[in-house]
Amino acid sequence: MQEFKTIEVTTDLLIIGPGMSGSGACVEGAHWAKENNVKITVVDKAAMERSGAVAMGLSAINQYTGDNTPIDYLSYVRQDLMGLCRDDLVMDIARHVNGTVHMFEGFGLPIWKDAEGNYVHEGRWQLMINGESYKAIVAEAAKNAVGIDNIIERVFIVQLLLDKNDKNRVAGAIGFSVREPEIYVFKFKACIVCTGGAVHVFRPRSTGEGLGRAWYPPWNAGSTSYLTTTAGAEMTSQEVIFVPARFKDGYGPVGAWFLLFKAAATSATGFNYMAEGLSEGGELHNWPPYGKVKPIPTCLRNHLMMIEMFRKGEGPILMHTDKAIQAIAEKAPDERAKKRELKKLEAEAWEDFLDMTISQAIIWAAKDVFPEKGPSEIMPSEPYFIGSHSGASGAWVSGPEDLQSEESKSDYFWGYNRMTTVKGLFTAGDGVGASSHKFSSGSFTEGRIAAKAAVKFCVENPEMPEIDMAEVEKLKEKIIAPLKHYEEHKKYTTLGTVTKKYDLPIEEVNPNYITPKMAMFRLNKIMDEYVAGWGSQYNCSATTLNIALDLLQLLKEDFSKLAARNLHELMRCWENIHRTQIAEAHTRHKLFREETRWPGYYYRSDFPKMDEEKWGDVFVNSVYDAEKDEFKVFTKPKHKIVDIKEVVGM
Ligand code: FAD
Ligand code: ADX
Repeated sequence: MQEFKTIEVTTDLLIIGPGMSGSGACVEGAHWAKENNVKITVVDKAAMERSGAVAMGLSAINQYTGDNTPIDYLSYVRQDLMGLCRDDLVMDIARHVNGTVHMFEGFGLPIWKDAEGNYVHEGRWQLMINGESYKAIVAEAAKNAVGIDNIIERVFIVQLLLDKNDKNRVAGAIGFSVREPEIYVFKFKACIVCTGGAVHVFRPRSTGEGLGRAWYPPWNAGSTSYLTTTAGAEMTSQEVIFVPARFKDGYGPVGAWFLLFKAAATSATGFNYMAEGLSEGGELHNWPPYGKVKPIPTCLRNHLMMIEMFRKGEGPILMHTDKAIQAIAEKAPDERAKKRELKKLEAEAWEDFLDMTISQAIIWAAKDVFPEKGPSEIMPSEPYFIGSHSGASGAWVSGPEDLQSEESKSDYFWGYNRMTTVKGLFTAGDGVGASSHKFSSGSFTEGRIAAKAAVKFCVENPEMPEIDMAEVEKLKEKIIAPLKHYEEHKKYTTLGTVTKKYDLPIEEVNPNYITPKMAMFRLNKIMDEYVAGWGSQYNCSATTLNIALDLLQLLKEDFSKLAARNLHELMRCWENIHRTQIAEAHTRHKLFREETRWPGYYYRSDFPKMDEEKWGDVFVNSVYDAEKDEFKVFTKPKHKIVDIKEVVGM
């Protein structure tokens, strides 16, 4: 095995994960850092130009408030989350997000404009973009802001290090290069962990030749949750995953079809489940008050679809792309204009996928699908952790002081905006819980907010905390253990880790070790079958959740047997350890909240209804004790900082 070199980096503020929120942190942080003589360093497991969820590009900016007020946006988000969000955090982003979008345009991002030069809206909050190069454009601005010499790429951060003299203060981070045999030890005054959400915790629907295809990109593996929880940060809403309804197999987006093209989705028998659900006596009336609001909350839209597919057996669900395109074209004044309009709509339909989910365009092409001629199947995908989208998992952070009420201040504010309960540890984007619907633009905005506060923290806490070097030495051993384990045991079998059976590559079974791929399959199976994945039709109960907790414990024990053949597999090993942390937190939160608040995301079959009285006014929070390997799960009150009437328009 190669010898590992240790590289030490000392800085003031470390930005871990320059995706959307991390790039926002770079742009804003660089400004305040220059004024205050603060040094910023950035570290990414990948290459910043195309890292994170926006790597493939996007077709819309999903948060732009335009002339709406932050309270309007809050009412939309609170309803979509079935009443539970942090009002202060949501409004804080909403009041700054327009500035971010204008900044993006300044960076060179092409935003669609109409004949009068106004932005083309997909829906009330969403703007259409030519976004294939969205991340590259934003990353370029971020790189220019912090300076190329301060950016370290291809280094996977494994764990945060705490101050030797204050276990509630962050002091450093440790990771390894995924290209060279190098361990990185960072020392700093503060950090912003913005390493995204988590994919492949639950078993994906894709199998065989499509294996690995998922809606959420495969490179965010729960690091934000692992890094913050193992440092002792309080987390919130870990039970609120997101199940996106997507075009089948390619996971193509539906927003443009529902909002821009005004398409309807029906069951195979033609039942318009959303319209019917809202009508007198429809299913949505069973979920007051959120079942009667517009737009219908994301989980309830899923719920209606799931009733058709799983309870009535009337799937597949069809998105009537053809009818939607025809209906728009019909409005043209004459036949020639209609033809022109049809061509334009057809191009827009393909671009929607090509900008952000290329594989869906490939599937359409491969299956001879013509969106203007016939409908396409949509279906609920596997659950993901993405607190910046329509899920809500993440850390419990301090909010802005000026947006607190008398009651909220003691629970929601402790000094620095977006700082977790650990001193000097900030987060943003998918990292912040209970404030979803920030998407790309809101995540960038939240990164800006966090960076400004983190620089302030560095200025007001100028002393450098001390890391425990003995702990670092132990961690170095632990980090590379899977490489050693492989070397020690590889000769027990003769075929290497991968062999072929019936012409298919299969993972060899060596009784001494577990490969990262097999570890992931094991995690996926546990989560799918016992924690409400698609395989159990999104159902779970206290019984199944407790089985999962036992199995997760056994899986964690077996992590000492993880084996890696190279640095890439070493990263895969650590990704699975990170994933399993969020899997356990999620399972414990689900077990604790004894109700079904987000039908269509998951069902507690032993508590099938929403219980407003007991659970309507509380978040489920938790703290992990890394030394004891124990979670403490408890509630935190929800404060309505603004009293708003439910029911808003699209
Ligand atoms: P990310 O942007 O994902 O960044 C995470 C960063 O952390 C990356 O740089 C990654 O490389 C790095 N990282 C991860 N682990 C580690 C580690 N251990 N060590 C070091 N670095 C690490 N929003 C819109 O506005 N419009 C849309 O049309 C839209 N469509 C979407 C489609 C899909 C398929 C998905 C998944 C999301 C979409 N979103 C959209 C939402 C948007 O992409 C996210 O809200 C946003 O990217 C979240 O930002 P983030 O900074 O939290 O995470
Ligand atoms: S994306 O992340 O891949 O862009 P998607 O296309 O589903 O997601 O949604 C884009 C935006 O449209 C999000 O803000 C989402 O909440 C919203 N949206 C999608 N479908 C609907 C619908 N039927 N009604 C209201 N809003 C919707």
